[in-house]
Amino acid sequence: MKKLYPLAICLAALSAQAQTNIAIDATKPATDISPDMWGIFFEDINFAADGGLYGELVKNRSFEFPQALMGWAAMGQVELADADPAFKANPRYARITKGESYRPAGLENEGFRGISLERGKTYDFSAQVRNASQRPLKLGVELINSIGRTYKTDTLTIAPAAGWQKIEATLTSALTDPKGRLRVLLLTPGTIDIDHISLFPTDTWKGRKGGLRRDLAQALADLSPKVMRFPGGCIVEGTDLANRYQWKKTVGPVEERPLNINRWNYNFSNRMAPDYFQSAGLGFFEFFQLSEDIGATPLPILSCGLACQYETGEEVPLDSLQPYIDDALDLIEFANGPVSSRWGALRAEMGHPEPFNMRYIGIGNEQWGEVYPERLELFLKQIRAKHPEIMVVGSAGPLPQGEQFDYLWPEMRRLGADLVDEHYYREPEWFFGNADRYNDYPRKGPKVFAGEYASHDYENRTANTYLSALSEAAFMTGLERNADLVRMATYAPLFAHVEANQWHPDLIWFDNAEVMRTPNYYVQQLFANNPGTRVLPIATQNGPEIYTSATLDEPTGEVIVKIVNRSAEPRKVKLDLKAPKGKNYVSGSHTYLQSDDLAAQNALGEPEKVYPRQRPVKIGADGEIEVLPQSVNVYRLR
Ligand code: AHR
Repeated sequence: MKKLYPLAICLAALSAQAQTNIAIDATKPATDISPDMWGIFFEDINFAADGGLYGELVKNRSFEFPQALMGWAAMGQVELADADPAFKANPRYARITKGESYRPAGLENEGFRGISLERGKTYDFSAQVRNASQRPLKLGVELINSIGRTYKTDTLTIAPAAGWQKIEATLTSALTDPKGRLRVLLLTPGTIDIDHISLFPTDTWKGRKGGLRRDLAQALADLSPKVMRFPGGCIVEGTDLANRYQWKKTVGPVEERPLNINRWNYNFSNRMAPDYFQSAGLGFFEFFQLSEDIGATPLPILSCGLACQYETGEEVPLDSLQPYIDDALDLIEFANGPVSSRWGALRAEMGHPEPFNMRYIGIGNEQWGEVYPERLELFLKQIRAKHPEIMVVGSAGPLPQGEQFDYLWPEMRRLGADLVDEHYYREPEWFFGNADRYNDYPRKGPKVFAGEYASHDYENRTANTYLSALSEAAFMTGLERNADLVRMATYAPLFAHVEANQWHPDLIWFDNAEVMRTPNYYVQQLFANNPGTRVLPIATQNGPEIYTSATLDEPTGEVIVKIVNRSAEPRKVKLDLKAPKGKNYVSGSHTYLQSDDLAAQNALGEPEKVYPRQRPVKIGADGEIEVLPQSVNVYRLR
């Protein structure tokens, strides 16, 4: 919270406004709000994992991209080989040979749109090397600037040995450059095999070696998310089944996690990213660990045996689905099983003997047609039998209405899914117009999980405008009022690299050095930091363009009132808050987002235009408050 909003409210305009009446009954707390209500959805899209949250700075570190030297510039004699590899799952490596001449031999990596270096900061370099000669060899490792200038060389001596060995060094950058590079040179004549060349900032999230980028993880923690959906999205499904996300290939030593092409590499022909692959360095263990770090309950999504139905739609025959079901059962064991179990033992080996307390699993992403329920049914049978404690999330398809949606909901009821995942990428008017979407939904049967949503401001090139954020806030008041039915909600997508993105809008933008929080981010944060524990009955009269919800926060005893005013005029509101005996709820805090410019956006490297501000609030005997134009307001009243 930065500063108080200068109260430049035009009183004349205010008095011309009819008053809106909001009646809240704090004597009748209704349904509980799910403790997992507001969360995040992480998908590896827009370079969210490799080149983003995963701290690795070297692209194609294992030479496994189909174009084996993509991301690398080779100098002198460099060949590729895969005989007697260091790692079975990623067998290819580089062989560098330097002759007696002064000519250099080595490799230079360009990173993910550059390697951001900061003077005085340290970086953890490592590689697997094999020196099959009879004498020690010297390897120079250099952090260089964008035009190739070297400031400092660290020299490592590699002893002769028949097999592979790991070399490590901590490099201190002598320069600041957002587009730096890493150079590895063989300094003495001879031949060396080299693989898994890696560079991480030492300063990672929680200081974990080979860990996550600190500022991006912090941006997630600052959202106080209570649930984390992972890893997709379309990448769960894959373009074809071979390309689907397979969690078992993302655990264990990172060097042995096989590379997968990221489907967002080629998904949109106008946004191709030929260098977009999944190293799985941010895999399922890291997902569970991060969820735990930031206080979010993990919600993994697994393939149901259908590849993306927009693409190949490849189907696993029903009688061959067991390995897919086993993946689900084994994942539960990996997350929660005892260390004596096969998968629980791997979790312990990776450093987390305690269970991760996973409570949900999603089967399928945006599936449709009969092929989906008939597969989900088989998963449900076995998950229910073995793990009745796990809640299963089914899908309502890719759209928030229509034939597939209308077919799938009754199917989800018939099958007894615990939650149904609805997705809505729609224009701002849809979000404003759907704030009451759930008022009349049937209350029996599965609950709702708003698993992917974002307001797409088409008139402003689907940028993260203030209008999009305002409309999401209006819609979210409706989710909160219907919290008996809507149990969780996660905006999508989460991250986007400014120089490598396929989809927008996105909640958090970043380049290699900085992070930018969007107006939409702050809306999510306002809701997630102020959920309350019970819904309070609320009635709003004369409230065109006003959207409201109210909750009771039992631990603090506060009443939390949310008011979104989409109008360009300030609004006079009379709060009639019925309090239990001995309470009055007249003072507290007011946190708000406001902008007169619906097209306002935040931008990297610029002061933020839209951000939350806070001030104390006191409600007079008349119950009147003035609500700013185009604002999202959270009042916490004691
Ligand atoms: O969030 C981007 C994509 O949108 C997801 O991968 C998919 O589930 C949806 O279509």
